[in-house]
Amino acid sequence: MGNILVTGSAGQIGSELVPALRNIYGESTVIAGWNKTPLPEDISKGPNVLLDVTDFEAINKVVKNFEISSIFHMSSILSATAEAIRNTAHNVNINGTFNVLESAHQNGVEKVMLPSSIAAFGDKTPRDMTPNDTIQNPDTVYGISKVFGELMGNYYYSKLGLDVRGIRLPGVISWKTEPTAGTTDYAVAMFYEAIKSNSYECYLAPDTSLPMMYMPDAINALVNLFKADHGNLIHHSDFNVHAMTFTPEALAVEVKRINPKFQIEYQIDPVRQAIANSWPSSLDDSAARKEWGWKPQYSIRELAEDMYKNLVTKLA
Ligand SMILES: NC(=O)c1ccc[n+]([C@@H]2O[C@H](COP(=O)([O-])OP(=O)(O)OC[C@H]3O[C@@H](n4cnc5c(N)ncnc54)[C@H](O)[C@@H]3O)[C@@H](O)[C@H]2O)c1
Repeated sequence: MGNILVTGSAGQIGSELVPALRNIYGESTVIAGWNKTPLPEDISKGPNVLLDVTDFEAINKVVKNFEISSIFHMSSILSATAEAIRNTAHNVNINGTFNVLESAHQNGVEKVMLPSSIAAFGDKTPRDMTPNDTIQNPDTVYGISKVFGELMGNYYYSKLGLDVRGIRLPGVISWKTEPTAGTTDYAVAMFYEAIKSNSYECYLAPDTSLPMMYMPDAINALVNLFKADHGNLIHHSDFNVHAMTFTPEALAVEVKRINPKFQIEYQIDPVRQAIANSWPSSLDDSAARKEWGWKPQYSIRELAEDMYKNLVTKLA
């Protein structure tokens, strides 16, 4: 195996994916690509490169110079931000994704991991137990760009033989790197504010039920799909993965169990509420379970306890 390039390594997921991949494949094998956001210190000690994914020639250069055989393409502009900066979101999410796939194809890269999102669904998609293969009518710049990535990933696989794999991640919750204005970030912010001030003002309504996943499960999903036997895959760039569904109200109960002084209030942001209302509440992930053995580990209670404990240490 050659080297692995991770784009967007300073991001919420990339910053935990790079150390996980370095543990498995070795420090020198995993090249951390970053842009604008600086890398966390632990990652910057290993091989890394400044890389703007909107620059096709720059990707070609990195792929050739570092002898890249696999790419985890994690660079993105997330949901709520993408609504505010459409132009940049189009450049990064659509042009950037195309550049990564085309460069991989032209330079003989073997495998590209291309994460999608539950944002790839829309209000015509069945909300409960959303099937893997169903109606996709997103009405956000981010969601549309995710459908583009799924379709292009499947195109590069079926037409050009590039092994592209992807999962539709739900809201990912983690303590190491803060999320960047997605729609599900309330679930992370609630922990920070519970520790700092015993209170949190939530921008989604108390009964907004959305699928969520704790970071260790998200990393396992990416790594296990990456390792999966190609012969077992029927789907490629578009796997549903489900871990848990909860509402702000239910998460607040868990936080209050750990910190009895915690209080939650609601001040609804219509933009993010409308985005959340168009997303699924739970997903049928039987294809992922069958084709590559997907199985989440964390429940909401385990997530809450682990988040709280780690954030208390981090913020001390
Ligand atoms: N975090 C979640 O809850 C979540 C949920 C569903 C899907 N996803 C998907 O997972 C992937 C990673 O998400 P994340 O949460 O780590 O995102 P993030 O916003 O935390 O990180 C994205 C990174 O991309 C970088 N970036 C921006 N413009 C760039 C450019 N022109 N060139 C190179 N890099 C650039 C940013 O600097 C940032 O470090 C994305 O594809 C995202 O859509 C994330």
